[in-house]
Amino acid sequence: MTSYIVIIDDETITLKQLRRILEKEGYQVAAFSNPQRALKHIEASSCHLVISDVRMPTMDGLDLMTRVKARFPTTEVILITGYASIDGAVEATREGAYYYLEKPFTPDQVRDLVKQALILRHTREAANGNSASGNSASGNSVSGDSVFGERDSQTPVIIGESSKIREVVSIIRQIAPTDCNVMITGDSGSGKELVASAIHAASKRANGPFMAFNCGALNETLIDNELFGHEKGAFTGAETRSTGLLEAAAGGTLFLDEIGEMPNSMQVKLLRVLQERELIRVGGSRPIPIDVRIVSATAVDVKAAVNGGAFRKDLYFRINVVNIKLPGLSERKKDIPLLAYHILSRLKRRGGKNISAVSQKAISLLINYAFPGNVRELENILERAVAVCSADVIRVCDLPPDLIEFELQAYKPPDEQFMTLAELEQDYISHLLKITGGVRNKTADILGIDRASLWRKMKKYKLG
Ligand SMILES: Nc1ncnc2c1ncn2[C@@H]1O[C@H](COP(=O)(O)OP(=O)(O)OP(=O)(O)O)[C@@H](O)[C@H]1O
Ligand SMILES: [Mg+2]
Repeated sequence: MTSYIVIIDDETITLKQLRRILEKEGYQVAAFSNPQRALKHIEASSCHLVISDVRMPTMDGLDLMTRVKARFPTTEVILITGYASIDGAVEATREGAYYYLEKPFTPDQVRDLVKQALILRHTREAANGNSASGNSASGNSVSGDSVFGERDSQTPVIIGESSKIREVVSIIRQIAPTDCNVMITGDSGSGKELVASAIHAASKRANGPFMAFNCGALNETLIDNELFGHEKGAFTGAETRSTGLLEAAAGGTLFLDEIGEMPNSMQVKLLRVLQERELIRVGGSRPIPIDVRIVSATAVDVKAAVNGGAFRKDLYFRINVVNIKLPGLSERKKDIPLLAYHILSRLKRRGGKNISAVSQKAISLLINYAFPGNVRELENILERAVAVCSADVIRVCDLPPDLIEFELQAYKPPDEQFMTLAELEQDYISHLLKITGGVRNKTADILGIDRASLWRKMKKYKLG
């Protein structure tokens, strides 16, 4: 099947470049420099994928995307963003775009992204029971905004442009449609449950239930009851029959959180269920078939527990068919601004104050912070910031005091008894360049000078 791709950019050079890359891959391509005309064409013929520039003189790429998505919910959209156009990218995630192509791009990046987008589209179609056949995508014109809106609110969005998060998203796309069990490892607050629900949403089981269970929260008897259910009269107080989660998640996904905490006896029981694909309720004798995918999560090193004998090796192999390791937030600092804006827009939607921006200084403070509590900690910091904020932008003074102190402490002048003002200036500028990742705008902002002055100083001190 040839996929049909519409590309839109007001720069003819980008159009030509994209067309060349895509046609080489065997895709059918229509290129437009005028978004209005492109939209008309899409309405008339529909297509599988739209690649559009965000900034065009006559129509905003986001606007175009919203219109395409409203009419053709399964058509994927890739937005081309200029470097550092964070605002646009954030706006885009809010509207449901999944992909960004950052200018300048390489042919490999285009090929990879297009492939991913088309696979996801195909998976969604399959999950919705539509056949993705033929060259035209007109069969997908499930009408109306409600379909888009509904799906958008349910689809978990994993925000991030760092290579580590892109890798995670790409693994999810690859393995979600298969039925294999997945174990997610990552520190507290790093997004394990979000990833689990994203796997579910992109799987063939997306229309089935997603059920979560925390293995660390209950004792053995209660876990037994929750997971396996019981027959009427199984124990004192069991007045009715109860279905366990393994059974209730039929056709869907069971998310076992803190799997490393599961007591040994339950490990044995779970293993048997997974091997035999059936279970017997507590107090029962009849085997009941189960149809569930297990996605588990852990913040502790289960492999070490296996080596130490605390976790069963056979169960570990069965549930750890694919392992997804989530990086801590400090390993993907590039994502912090994007996440911050995403969280703000979520808070706003939940009826909070109308605050949709974070000052540059506050952002660079967040970027430098170590985030032991990962994305959840960033959420908490921003929720608090919104609550105390009296302006329409979050500023440094709205961030928790210990974070501000952390930042101030981060700069320590060299251990010399006396420094000239120039030496101190040189040292401080080089410190800031380091923590801003060499971004001059940000550095100049923190210093309270303009870019040109910073540039002169950098030249004087031979920095950068
Ligand atoms: N990449 C991301 N994009 C958007 N939101 C994220 C991302 N990662 C985490 N979050 C959000 O951060 C919060 C914490 O994520 P989640 O509950 O999935 O983490 P967790 O690893 O399960 O945490 P815990 O170990 O505390 O259970 C959630 O509100 C989630 O939506
Ligand atoms: Mg969790």
